[in-house]
Amino acid sequence: MLKGKHIILGITGGIAAYKSVSLLRLLVKGGAEVQVVITPAGKEFITPVTLSALSGKPVVSEFFTANTGEWHSHVDLGLWADCMVIAPATASSIAKMANGVADNMLITTYLSAKSPVFIAPAMDLDMMAHPSTHRNIELLRSYGNNIIEPETGFLASGLTGKGRMEEPEKIVEVLDRFFEKNENQSLAGKKVLITAGPTYEAIDPVRFIGNYSSGKMGFALAAEASRRGAEVVLVSGPVSLDTPSGNIRRVDVRSAREMLAACESEFDTADIAIFCAAVADYAPEQVADRKIKRGDMPEMTLRLVRNPDIAATLGSRRRDGQTLVGFALETDNEMENGRSKLRRKNLDMVVVNSMRDAGAGFSGDTNKITVVTAEGDEKSFPLKSKSEVAADIIDCIEDLSV
Ligand code: C5P
Repeated sequence: MLKGKHIILGITGGIAAYKSVSLLRLLVKGGAEVQVVITPAGKEFITPVTLSALSGKPVVSEFFTANTGEWHSHVDLGLWADCMVIAPATASSIAKMANGVADNMLITTYLSAKSPVFIAPAMDLDMMAHPSTHRNIELLRSYGNNIIEPETGFLASGLTGKGRMEEPEKIVEVLDRFFEKNENQSLAGKKVLITAGPTYEAIDPVRFIGNYSSGKMGFALAAEASRRGAEVVLVSGPVSLDTPSGNIRRVDVRSAREMLAACESEFDTADIAIFCAAVADYAPEQVADRKIKRGDMPEMTLRLVRNPDIAATLGSRRRDGQTLVGFALETDNEMENGRSKLRRKNLDMVVVNSMRDAGAGFSGDTNKITVVTAEGDEKSFPLKSKSEVAADIIDCIEDLSV
């Protein structure tokens, strides 16, 4: 998968920089075109001559070549790359990347990179365990960077612990898998409708009934479907998430009724519909047009009426060739409830997750799912990041459609 790929290999100043030589060799052997960008501290550990000889390109380290004044454009490099790998990434460079401290060529290139970025931390165990390192790594992850977790083992300091840079062979495997996944255009020509997030049901102009859904699962599904070539319509309740890049049209709604209306106008032309939103089951019967005052009332009663069930409404008027997927977030009797939703809402597949599983459900970055299909198949997955879960769900949908 590496053949012809443009890869920036970023090297920072850590002992593990010696492993970058093997990584570079493996990348070149795999057919990639590699541009090494090294920090000034990196050059204390490994010489640019070795790296330029192996990559067949001059190593970039400074903003200018001293004797000619030639400017090295980090912007052009950022556009050229299909991916950027920073290995090893020291605590200092991780902190700079996390906070945009662009004081060397590597960090400016990182900030300019349009491509996916892979970061392989390497440092002593105590530095690795420090809360600032944790925070910076989490920040980098939240920007969408891929962290290649360090291993636990013997460290240059003589100590043993977490902080060993992942082995070059493993890093190459990660990149290989990434390119393989990225080139999968299995949903090209398909339109995918996805609902995401909570709904807000207004009580008065300043209050609503809502729930804790973050929208992360639905947004991860949108990103994955678009990555596989689909045209995605993402109908989202109120969330604080950016729309993922790709062919994704986002329609923002508030209430269940608005969500249904938005879905109705997209559903007939959709090939796949994934109902991931946590839609409120009930809404206040009356919405006060002014803020309800506390007054002297010791109690108040809010009369609620049933909201439309979007999945069931659309499930009842589905046409041949459409694939419909629902979610079931349960606190008990998970599988039974999941199966009954599948039937009641006329769906092909239901993704069941349980509030009893740590790390699963609404607001976190991970989920643990079991998929049940109308055919009666059942498949459970371990706890994974929501973007990995999204890939598993779409794999299951593709398995249904064949
Ligand atoms: O019945 P329950 O709300 O647990 O079903 C969950 C599934 O149904 C989810 O796929 C959810 O998006 C969908 N749903 C819906 N409209 C509703 C309630 C649930 O589309 N009003």
